[in-house]
Amino acid sequence: MLINVKEKREKIVYISRHGQSEMNVKDIIGGNGYLSPSGVEYSEKLGDYIANNIDTENTRFVTSSMNRTRQTAMLAGVSPEQNEDLDEIDAGDFDGLSYGEVKCRFPSEYEARKDDKLNYRYPNGESYVDLLKRTRLALNSVDFENCDNFLIIHQAVARCLIAIMLGLSDDKVPQMEIPLHTVIKIQGSEITYQKLL
Ligand code: F6P
Repeated sequence: MLINVKEKREKIVYISRHGQSEMNVKDIIGGNGYLSPSGVEYSEKLGDYIANNIDTENTRFVTSSMNRTRQTAMLAGVSPEQNEDLDEIDAGDFDGLSYGEVKCRFPSEYEARKDDKLNYRYPNGESYVDLLKRTRLALNSVDFENCDNFLIIHQAVARCLIAIMLGLSDDKVPQMEIPLHTVIKIQGSEITYQKLL
């Protein structure tokens, strides 16, 4: 009798922020620009990591709809799906300003965010509470049953996804450390970090 031994391991969710962007270099909030030279270098290293570690036939690659995640995937040599529910937190009227400019020009907004980063909503933009709702929608489209998933996304959205997947409380979300140039691997309740650059 033939027994079908189907692999039953828990599926893996890999998360990487996009490579360093032009906006990261200038400490700018949001924007929709492209990668810095260091971000390009990371994306190429990410391609090597994927080639050596990932079963690409059985992995679904997904990016946000933003230029910096799509460029990272392209340089890493993968053809992702796009999901705009994975786009970075919408900074509304402050999109494209630096943190320093916000502090200088809108001190009360700056302080309000510092005091309650979870609930603070950017003028005409989103709060982390809003983003948690949006990322729950994105998670509904992640296939945890049939394949591994590799998400190339952004800092705030990665914080939300990881908190939801690991069952962390919402108040931990806005301060969570999501290093650049690092592959984060989540399998069940285990999370590991591998810095590539
Ligand atoms: O600085 C990079 C970035 O992805 C911004 O685009 C975004 O607004 C920010 O991180 C989110 O992090 P924080 O909520 O800590 O400002």
